[in-house]
Amino acid sequence: MRTCYTGEVNTQHLGQTVTLFGWVHRRRDHGGVIFIDLRDRAGLAQIVVNPENAEVFATAERIRNEFCLRVTGVVQARPEGTANSDLASGAVEIVCQELEILNASVTPPFQLDDDNLSETTRLTHRVLDLRRPQMQNNLMLRYRVAMEVRKYLDSMGFIDIETPMLTKSTPEGARDYLVPSRVNPGEFFALPQSPQLFKQMLMVAGFDRYYQITKCFRDEDLRADRQPEFTQIDCEMSFMDEFQIRDIFENMVRHVFSTVQKVELPQPFPVMSWTEAMQRFGSDKPDMRVKLEFTDVADLMREVSFKVFSGPANDPSCRVVALRVPAGGEMPRSEIDAYTKFVGIYGAKGLAYIKVNDVTNIPEGLQSPIVKNIDNDALRAVMERTGAQNGDLIFFGADKTQVVNDAIGALRIKIGHSEHGRKHGLVEAGWKPLWVVDFPMFEYDEETKRYYAAHHPFTSPKDGHEDFLETDPAKVQAKAYDMVLNGWEMGGGSVRIHRADVQSKVFSALNINAEEAREKFGFLLDALQYGAPPHGGIAFGLDRMITMMAGADSIRDVIAFPKTQRAQCLLTHAPSGVDEKQLKELHIRLRPQEAKPA
Ligand code: AMO
Ligand code: AMP
Repeated sequence: MRTCYTGEVNTQHLGQTVTLFGWVHRRRDHGGVIFIDLRDRAGLAQIVVNPENAEVFATAERIRNEFCLRVTGVVQARPEGTANSDLASGAVEIVCQELEILNASVTPPFQLDDDNLSETTRLTHRVLDLRRPQMQNNLMLRYRVAMEVRKYLDSMGFIDIETPMLTKSTPEGARDYLVPSRVNPGEFFALPQSPQLFKQMLMVAGFDRYYQITKCFRDEDLRADRQPEFTQIDCEMSFMDEFQIRDIFENMVRHVFSTVQKVELPQPFPVMSWTEAMQRFGSDKPDMRVKLEFTDVADLMREVSFKVFSGPANDPSCRVVALRVPAGGEMPRSEIDAYTKFVGIYGAKGLAYIKVNDVTNIPEGLQSPIVKNIDNDALRAVMERTGAQNGDLIFFGADKTQVVNDAIGALRIKIGHSEHGRKHGLVEAGWKPLWVVDFPMFEYDEETKRYYAAHHPFTSPKDGHEDFLETDPAKVQAKAYDMVLNGWEMGGGSVRIHRADVQSKVFSALNINAEEAREKFGFLLDALQYGAPPHGGIAFGLDRMITMMAGADSIRDVIAFPKTQRAQCLLTHAPSGVDEKQLKELHIRLRPQEAKPA
C-alpha cells in the first residue's frame, strides 16, 4: 500500500518508513550512491540508494528514465546545504530499503523537462507529455475549477441536466460537424455547437435553473484560443433579468478565483457598453490591463491635404484614430517599422506617426513625414485631444472602421505588453475582468447585404427597442453580455426572447421566413407557446478560463487530448479513412479523389 504521494513527502515524515509509487524522472549515479528523482502526480522526491544494500543497489543500477517503481524507505533530512527549495519535498530524501521495478520503459523520445519540445512531438507522444509536471498541474487545476463551479452552482440551486450530442443544427453561427444516420438513409445529425435550444426548452419545462459542463463542436478556423471540440460551462435560469443573471455568474467567477487561485477579483466587475469598448479600444473584448486608448480624430482631418486621412475622415464607413504612446519618442526606428509590419497583418495599409518633441511649438516641434500635409490647427487639436506630452509618439490608423479597430486594437495590446509598455507602466499586472453589455442585436454583412444575429436569434432586444426591429434593425440593442478577462472572451450570454410575436419579428429582420423558421426551430417556437417563462443564461469557455488561470499559451495545454490547428489528433490519427463497408452502411459514396484508405 502507498503511504502517501511521492510529491507530498516532507519534514513531517522524518524518521518514518514510507512506501511510494511513481516514475523515474531522473537517475544520477554519484559514484557509489545512486539518486533517483521519483515522480507522481503530486510532484518529485529524492530517493537515495546506498551500495550497502547490494540487492537494492543492483536493481537501482538497472533502472532508467520513466521506469515505474515501488519504493519503500526511511525519510531523513537532506544533508546540510543540499536542500532544494523548489520542491515541496526538497528538505528530505528517502533512504531506499526496498525497490521493485513494476514496469520498465523503453527510452522516451524526449527528456520530460525539456522546455523546447515542438507541439507535434508533444501531441504525438501525448501520454508522456501529460506526465510532465506542468501538464499534470494544468489538468488538476482544470478539475479543481470544474469542482468549484459545480459546488457554487449546486449551492445556488442549479441542476445538471444532460442534453443530446446527436441533434439538429443549432444556430451559433459556425459550421456543423455532421454525423450520418445509418437507419435514416441520406439524413444527418449535427453535433451541438452548444446546448442553446435545449436549455431554453428546459426552462419552458420548468426546471428553473440548469447547468452542464459539456462539450460543444464547431467546425471553424482554429486559433490559439479555439478548438473544434471545447467545453462550456453552460447555464440557464428563469425569472431573472440581465442584471440578476450577471450578478450570479460574476459571483461564480469570483468564487472560483478566490478558492482555486487565491485571487480576489473586484466586486462588482466594471461594466462597459459595447459602443464605448469599440470607441476606446477598438475591441469588444478589451484587455483592461493595457492603459493605452484610441482617440477619434476624423472630425479634425476632413479638410487636411493628407489624403490618407481626409479620405477615410469623410467616409462614414471609415474611422481615423490616434493612439498616444507615452514616452514613445524613445522607440528606435526599427521598432516603429516592426509595428508597421504588424498592423499589416490586420489589413492596415500603413502606420503614420508623429514624434512629439515640443508640443508648444507646432509644427516645428513635431517630427513626422506627414506633418507638412496637415494644417497647424488640426495638429494642435490632435495634441490637445490626445493629451500629448513631450517625448510621446502618436500612431494613426485611417481606414475602414473594422480594419482600424483590428489593427490599432492589436497594436494597443502589443505595445502595452512590450518592453516599452512594461518600462513605462502602460500595462498593469493581475486580473482585469469586465462585462461588455448593450451589444448591437444585428451585424450587417456588406457582401450578402443582410443582417445576421450578433449573438444568436433567440436573444431578446432591449426594452423599447422592439419597434426598431422593423424600422431600423441597426439601432436595436440586445440584452446580451460578455464576460471579458485580460482581453479574452471568457463567457457570453443573453436574456432570451420568450414571446412568439417578438421572435417572429426578429426572424423577419434576419430574413428568415416563417417556413424556414418552422423547419429549423419549430420545436422551440412550439415550446414557447406553452407559457414560456422569461429566461436567460450564459456559457463560459472552460478551456479558456483554465488557460488563463494556468498562464498557458494555448488552450491545447489545458485539454488532455486536443486537436492541432488543422483539427487532427496526432495521437490517434483521427480523422482517418473508413472502410468501404462502413460507408456503404451509411449510404455514403466518396468522390474518387477524396477516398482515403481505412
Ligand atoms: P458563445 O458562442 O459565445 O455562446 O460561446 C460561449 C463561450 O464558449 C467559448 N468558446 C470557445 N472556446 C474554445 N473553442 C471554441 N471554438 C469556442 N467557441 C466558443 C468562449 C465563449 O465565450 N449558447 C451561447 C451561450 C448563451 O447564450 O448562453 C454560446 O454558445 O469562451
Ligand atoms: P504615404 O503617403 O503612403 O507615403 O504614407 C505616409 C505615412 O502614412 C506613412 O507613415 C504610412 O505608413 C502612413 N499610412 C499610409 N496608409 C495609412 C493608413 N491607412 N492609416 C494610417 N497610416 C497610414
